[in-house]
Amino acid sequence: MPLPDVAQLHSAADFLRSRVPAPQVGLVLGSGLGGYADSLAGLSKVSYASVPHMPTSAIQGHAGNFCGGFLGTVPVLCMQGRVHSYEGYSTDRVVFGACLLRELGCTHVLLTNAAGGIAADLAPGDLMLITDHINLSGQNPLVGPHDGRGARFPDMTHAYDPGLRELALGAAVAAGVSLKQGVYASLLGPTYETPAEVRMLARLGADAVGMSTALEVIALGQLGARAAAISCITNLAAGISKQPLSHDEVEATAKEARDRFTRLLTAWIEAIARP
Ligand code: HPA
Repeated sequence: MPLPDVAQLHSAADFLRSRVPAPQVGLVLGSGLGGYADSLAGLSKVSYASVPHMPTSAIQGHAGNFCGGFLGTVPVLCMQGRVHSYEGYSTDRVVFGACLLRELGCTHVLLTNAAGGIAADLAPGDLMLITDHINLSGQNPLVGPHDGRGARFPDMTHAYDPGLRELALGAAVAAGVSLKQGVYASLLGPTYETPAEVRMLARLGADAVGMSTALEVIALGQLGARAAAISCITNLAAGISKQPLSHDEVEATAKEARDRFTRLLTAWIEAIARP
């Protein structure tokens, strides 16, 4: 399926416009990271289920709300949770929320996710700025007829906007938060990887692995938004860790990182909005 239908995006955007402030920066908050939205001033929450055409997630840790509000003077719109291909959604549904942020006027979209750490320097609880991705999901939201939005063969050299990444590194220093950097491999899931798959991913140049983000970043780039992303390393990838992986561990580690994540995102958004 190609990008979401324009008429569907318009009707969802019309619905949200009267309920949240017109946003400049959009945020997609992944597993266990949705709490950030609660720190916004003048918070208004709109559940995904009430928004026309917006898909809803049944996954724990994905609350399913749009949260509009202000960070200082910056109007921000957060997505508390996302939907994934492994839930059975087609790619146009998976990227619908991110495309809606763009439709509502977000010039910048920051995505977060939970990921398994592969690189030797990553430990559970670390935050990793994504420099690039390896899309092994087998999906791409641009498959299908080209309807004129963006290029037929989009360049992916700067999918993770270099200017936004610079600002993130500066914001991390200013906020006193350690921020690693690395390549994110996006897999379909819902199984976690086998140890052999993790060894393969390491050889391919992946530093972390997860089940989201790449498709949204592809769609956002196509729609002219500047996108960047941070992973919360919630566990060591399979085979590196001696323990079996569990979603409970993923959520618990993401919650522990909440305070650092909040400080980093706040400093980052302030830097983005600074003239
Ligand atoms: N693999 C894939 N997705 C994940 C992981 C992982 O180890 N941790 C959190 N999301």
